[in-house]
Amino acid sequence: MRTRDSRETERTGERDERAGGTGRRALLGAAVLAAGGTALGLGGTASAAESGRGGGRGGLKSLPVPAIIGHRGASGYRPEHTLGAYQLALDMGADIVEAGDLVPTKDGHLVCRHEPEIGGTTDVADHPEFAGRRTTKTLDGVSVTGWFTEDFTLAELKRLRAVERIPQNRPHNTLYNGRWEIPAFEEVLRWQDEQTRRRGRQVWIYPELKHPTYFRKLGLGLEERVAKVLRRHRKDGRNAPVILQSFEPTSIQRLNELVDNPLVVLLSTADSRPWDFVESGDPRTVADLITREGLKEIASYAQGIGPTLDLIIPRDASGRLTRPTTLVRDAHSAGLILHPYTLRNENPFLPADFRKGTDPDAYGDVFGAYRAYFATGIDGVFTDQPDTGLLAREDFVND
Ligand code: G3P
Ligand code: CA
Repeated sequence: MRTRDSRETERTGERDERAGGTGRRALLGAAVLAAGGTALGLGGTASAAESGRGGGRGGLKSLPVPAIIGHRGASGYRPEHTLGAYQLALDMGADIVEAGDLVPTKDGHLVCRHEPEIGGTTDVADHPEFAGRRTTKTLDGVSVTGWFTEDFTLAELKRLRAVERIPQNRPHNTLYNGRWEIPAFEEVLRWQDEQTRRRGRQVWIYPELKHPTYFRKLGLGLEERVAKVLRRHRKDGRNAPVILQSFEPTSIQRLNELVDNPLVVLLSTADSRPWDFVESGDPRTVADLITREGLKEIASYAQGIGPTLDLIIPRDASGRLTRPTTLVRDAHSAGLILHPYTLRNENPFLPADFRKGTDPDAYGDVFGAYRAYFATGIDGVFTDQPDTGLLAREDFVND
């Protein structure tokens, strides 16, 4: 059994995508081909409507391509999954905000945390009254020690405050430790409405259902809860500005039965198996899901995929970009949009060919990385620094 410190993957960037630079002009040509020559509109971004993909769920068509998605908010500048991080992402101009990653509480509410374990993203360890809740659990085959949202009521979680997950990469963000609560999903939906009214433009959110199989076994099925809350807020329709995502295909299939929102299947490394497949004995890996046949099947219940950036442009042994795969072309042929994850400005998270020095909190040449990925014809990208992503998109469309 593997053991994981919840902060470890963030420190090393190991789960994140590698890339590098192979002839950007050539890649730009490939992008236009991959997108059937409709990658970009004149003087700006194309919309999904122009591309004709993501069909069946109308609201998606209003989004710019490539869309800039604030990953956990503007988490490069504020502790992730806080209203402060979400607000800043919008202020910066993000097209969509990933608000949030959803996990349940003991009393059945949905809250925004990247993981059920909250030791790395809250001040729970400073609360002596919760010391006895520290425990070890097996989460999707991994032994994890800490405090888990499913062991707390919403009222208890509201006594905690969010802190920066990766202070070693983002020391400035610790300035905001203790400022914000853990948001409940319902608060986020109200915030979305308020921001839409204030800004005079539709605010989009992109919640992810975390560990659906794990929570279902605990009697805390996520899909029904998400559907119920969306219905209550009249955000379960095909034109609702809420895209739902999950790493577990059966969770997306279940959602497809419950709501009409745009749905996106997340894809981890090619050799990995979604946890619902592991539990049900389905032998397929992500590599099987991204064959033409696999993509066609996904398109029967979802509108898009969210692959790692490595599935778009693999990295070699030294961490440098190689040649793009056919995934963008194949997904588009199946009628699916692609929103890969995650671009971050800091060196450790970038492909080796875009790093500048070895300082873990210094920025590398992230604009070079954006150019390479945009050139493949992706429909958007998750990023911790939406302001950088928007500038990169501006450069790209004007190039
Ligand atoms: O939701 C896209 C991306 O966020 C998936 O990765 O682990 O950051 O939730 P993760
Ligand atoms: Ca996520």
